Amino acid sequence: MQIPYLDLSRLYNWQKENFDLALQEVLNSGRYMDGEKTQICEDNIAKIFNYKHSITVGSCSDAIYFSLLAAGVGKDDEVLLTSFSFVGSVMPIYRLGARAVFVDIDPKNALMETGNIEKLINKNTKAIVAVHLFGNTLDMEVILKIAKKHNLIVIEDAAQSAGVEPNYGSENKSDFVCTSFDPTKVIHAFGTGGAVVTNNEIYFERIKKYRYHGKDNKGFEIPGYNSRMSEIQCAKLNIQIDMLQEILEQRKHIANKYFELLKESDKIKITDYQENSNFHKIVIRTAKRDWLKNELEKLGIQSMIHYPKSLNKYFGDTKNYPEALKWSDECLSLPIFYGIKDEEVNCICEQINRIVC
Ligand SMILES: Cc1ncc(COP(=O)(O)O)c(C=O)c1O
Repeated sequence: MQIPYLDLSRLYNWQKENFDLALQEVLNSGRYMDGEKTQICEDNIAKIFNYKHSITVGSCSDAIYFSLLAAGVGKDDEVLLTSFSFVGSVMPIYRLGARAVFVDIDPKNALMETGNIEKLINKNTKAIVAVHLFGNTLDMEVILKIAKKHNLIVIEDAAQSAGVEPNYGSENKSDFVCTSFDPTKVIHAFGTGGAVVTNNEIYFERIKKYRYHGKDNKGFEIPGYNSRMSEIQCAKLNIQIDMLQEILEQRKHIANKYFELLKESDKIKITDYQENSNFHKIVIRTAKRDWLKNELEKLGIQSMIHYPKSLNKYFGDTKNYPEALKWSDECLSLPIFYGIKDEEVNCICEQINRIVC
């Protein structure tokens, strides 16, 4: 049996009529940018995240970059974030000439260890990028309390957590939440895409300008970028947003199958998932990760490594982040996508149990 890591054609084929119809509608409308589908999409995104304003942009990386810029974070300012994520979480910080300050992770779920944050704050610290990972979310109540105490901006990197409301507890929400719609995400476009949501009017107006050459009603007022999503992309997202509950239920079903069938042992560890996770990735850990990946490949089962390096290693921070280092050596992501069949998950688990035990 050949089992791909990700097969997007299954979701497309399931909703083929709707996707094709939406495509035709956009093509016939003759309006390809900044039209009705974009407006509906932005309203939908604001609703999903439960924030007032939403702006679609070219990617989550741009969303984080624009958020930092809107909040006035700049050269030599320090920004705290996890040491374990996709490079897209940290690149916007480097793009600004700011300094990334990394925090080691919780070994149970690879999320930033919130207990390690406060000791890294100093007079140069301006912001925290709170990265939600694998569909699990950070405790935002804790992070927002720290941010309030030290007057820091909070940007959530929710690229992997669409459809999941983190715990805000008694705190107000974050300054910005950024998400991604690239094709590997739970809701995705036909290419790259992203969005920022915020409750702050000033930030909202600023980011709207940044995304298109600084344009507002009066003209091109400030230097900006060109980072938008097309009507076709937004039309596709709108269909998936309508199906979001169904998509989440299916992912939960697949995840539960993995948890039920995979034999946890001293050789295989399964990541701790939260009850409301969207199970963006199913990640296991084993000391013999490369060997297991190779054995699965020989059997036609694809897997991926998220992530092979801790973030500090990309730009020469040589400090030691022991938990992130361990995860990057041991983690392996197993197939999960809309339309993966029970028998495929059975086969993956059977093979892993057989190979490892
Ligand atoms: C946690 C995280 N942050 C940021 C990004 C960057 O998103 P984009 O590819 O939309 O720029 C990704 C993308 O995979 C991600 O997983």
